[in-house]
Amino acid sequence: MPSIPAAKPQTPSRIPTQPALRSSAEWVAHFKRNATLQRPIPWELGANITPAELAEISASLRGWQLGETSDGSHLLAAAKSYSESIGDPDFIEAARHFIIEEQRHGEMLGRFLDLAQVPRAGSDWGDTLFRALRYAMPRMELWVTPVLMVETHAMIYYNALRRATSSPVLIAICRQILADEVPHIRFQCERLAILHRNRPRPLLHLTIALQKILFIAISVAIWIGHRRALRAGGYHFPIFWRSAWRKMNRAWRLMSPDSYQPISQEIERTQSNSHRLAHEPSRP
Ligand SMILES: [Fe+2]
Ligand SMILES: [Fe+2]
Repeated sequence: MPSIPAAKPQTPSRIPTQPALRSSAEWVAHFKRNATLQRPIPWELGANITPAELAEISASLRGWQLGETSDGSHLLAAAKSYSESIGDPDFIEAARHFIIEEQRHGEMLGRFLDLAQVPRAGSDWGDTLFRALRYAMPRMELWVTPVLMVETHAMIYYNALRRATSSPVLIAICRQILADEVPHIRFQCERLAILHRNRPRPLLHLTIALQKILFIAISVAIWIGHRRALRAGGYHFPIFWRSAWRKMNRAWRLMSPDSYQPISQEIERTQSNSHRLAHEPSRP
């Protein structure tokens, strides 16, 4: 009996090797889901922090708490005009959910300050400087860029804070914020990848060069304003500096348009998703 040749394995005509950019609707779904997955904070234990630990972090924590409590009106205004310009109304909703998540961070930190009987800050020079920087920049890209850079430092800051204390409440808050900030960085990087998608190479190189200058300024300002808390968490200047650049280099890779599927594949994916949804039997 003649042997039947083994069927050639079917190879898909195209295997996407890069991740797709998430749509604004997917980001809205992420933020909604994340709101239901918050870790418990043992508030009933009280602040439970030693005076020595509190002395190292309280001034810095007051400033950082203020920074987390922005009402987000400028971001929403920028998001609204940007989403109209690109025809993506879901982006406003994604930005709104992002603001809610940041406000939740501010509220948790504020509640901790109240427990520790440390008055919340009314103003802070670092926060004022950062707000001025954002407000002076009406375009979406110029808004997202400094936010991303501060969030990159937030990963270091909350890690330092977590290590600088034995308070179970503050440790739990830091862990929750760190878990939230990882997708925040991705959210900003994907937006920058979209904004940079059609930018000619020389202009893209210039953009990154300008970003590096801004990043150095933000790193120095954060070190000056928060060095005591950072040191208490084991981040002496060389470690802080190296960590900040390592994290930002990762963000630069994530914001590169080359890191994602080209737009043609993205449109295909969106269309096949809508086709699937349209033909999927509705579930009871
Ligand atoms: Fe935050
Ligand atoms: Fe954030």
